[in-house]
Amino acid sequence: MTAESRLVPEDLIQAVILREDDAPAGPVPAMPGIARATADEAVEIARKASALGLPALALFPQTGPEHRSAEAQLALDPGNLMCRAARAIKAEAPGIGLIADVALDPYTDHGHDGLLREGVILNDETVELLTRQALVLAEAGYDVLAPSDMMDGRIAAIRTALDEGGYADRLILSYAVKYASRFYGPYRDAIGSRGVLQGDKRTYQMDPRNAEEGLREVALDVAEGADMVMVKPGLPYLDMVARVKDGFGVPTVAFQVSGEYAMLACAAEAGAFDFEAAGLEALACFRRAGADAIVSYYAIRAAEWLSDPAR
Ligand code: PBG
Repeated sequence: MTAESRLVPEDLIQAVILREDDAPAGPVPAMPGIARATADEAVEIARKASALGLPALALFPQTGPEHRSAEAQLALDPGNLMCRAARAIKAEAPGIGLIADVALDPYTDHGHDGLLREGVILNDETVELLTRQALVLAEAGYDVLAPSDMMDGRIAAIRTALDEGGYADRLILSYAVKYASRFYGPYRDAIGSRGVLQGDKRTYQMDPRNAEEGLREVALDVAEGADMVMVKPGLPYLDMVARVKDGFGVPTVAFQVSGEYAMLACAAEAGAFDFEAAGLEALACFRRAGADAIVSYYAIRAAEWLSDPAR
């Protein structure tokens, strides 16, 4: 009766890492309980998520080194894994929203989110590519385009391109407050970037010591047309979730990233606590901080726990 916030399945977005049918099926290193999904498996995940009341899935592709290139050509291919999965899900389970990561890191042979020339990320050339990538993803059926690259000016460019391309109805979820974080470690394994990434992403992702900078990024992205903003990672950055929600009043999404999942799952495996109880506590804290939705690797499991009257 006195609880100030609630956690319900409608708050949860399931993160799904896609793999090609012929890629090995095993678990993602350091993420016990998480496997990559083929396009067919993603359809099953979509059906399950939809039945539980989840509003959306956030999809990410694993790409082998042989399909990566300096110019990230595969990002613009309407037949790529992200596009095939979206078409299959929209055909079989149209009730669920689909969120696409817009960034080049699954497709570049150097693992960066942008084009790299002589050790420097090319902002404007990357924005041009991201804009075309967003259009390809919109065409495939994604409802929400979520640029996670942190280039400057990409929200305005993508918004304009979507509007002019006949996709005025698509939403932009901007990764506005995205830190250069070690907590992305398992994800880079999951999408095939580990060992590929040259250097780090600190010239375009944020310094974990900064807060004001994040608020400036949100102001810019909202002015450029973002419908929703993301704070990422989640738990170590809950202050930013609260400040963004309080300061801007825009739909605020938090990403409980791969390393956070690893911490919870590995600690539970070591007997530190029960995964279900700790996992639900962590998700409830996102809601307390003000998150409207949470992207999580165990969103479906959490929705099952929340929906089970026996618990
Ligand atoms: C990059 C991207 C990253 C994640 C989602 N999109 C990692 C990075 O910036 O290197 C991380 C997600 C996670 O750790 O769960 N486009």
